[in-house]
Amino acid sequence: MRIFVTKNYQELSYKAADIVEDYLKNSSAVLGLATGSTPMGLYRELISRYENNGLSFQNVQTINLDEYIGLDRNHLQSYHTFMRENFFSHIDIPSHQTHIPNGLAEPLDVECSRYEKLINEIGPPDVQVLGIGENGHIGFNEPGSKFSSETHVIQLASSTRKANARFFDSVDQVPTHAITMGIKSILKSRQILLLASGTKKAAAIKRLLDGGIDEKFPASALLQHSDVVLIADREAWSEV
Ligand code: GLP
Repeated sequence: MRIFVTKNYQELSYKAADIVEDYLKNSSAVLGLATGSTPMGLYRELISRYENNGLSFQNVQTINLDEYIGLDRNHLQSYHTFMRENFFSHIDIPSHQTHIPNGLAEPLDVECSRYEKLINEIGPPDVQVLGIGENGHIGFNEPGSKFSSETHVIQLASSTRKANARFFDSVDQVPTHAITMGIKSILKSRQILLLASGTKKAAAIKRLLDGGIDEKFPASALLQHSDVVLIADREAWSEV
């Protein structure tokens, strides 16, 4: 694992954007993307480079990690909306080149197989952007998820629903289930770019670096991958 510790979130976002931009020099790059607060600065920086430096996404394909089950794609808190509002609508990527699981599909197991097939056909991503949950989840792979899992339906941990309740009116409105790329799907990516910001992530980063490989801590699967870049700001690094 290569590790960069930055002085703040802004610097973390620049560093992540530098890495992603390198892949965009290849005209047919495939980017694995994530939601959550952590990658928002990266998206802002990439948008700024599109607007000011001629960075183009015209030939890029994107594959997102996950989506809530039961939310319409236009729901304010769906990950479709998150990606559109925070990234896709601000750059020149054609919408048919962006991929996110469909949380309203029926049956869901067919949607999971379709998505995994898509990862294999379009991807795997050249680089997968990842955040980390306070409990070590990656995508929505909660503690206990099998490292051999591909795209699947998962019941969200109550701690995850509480952590994500800040985006909803109340915790009851946070969906109970999601579709997520599995740990095995994530590890297919050629490179993993793990981002961690803030003191809330400090314990998870310490656990990742000290705790060994264990399905109880999903992010520890990344220790099995040969090309992981961790960018942590000083706060996220504070317990190491
Ligand atoms: C959600 C997402 C994850 C993300 C995590 C942490 O549960 N499914 O992909 O990494 O939250 O989010 P944040 O970056 O807001 O702390």
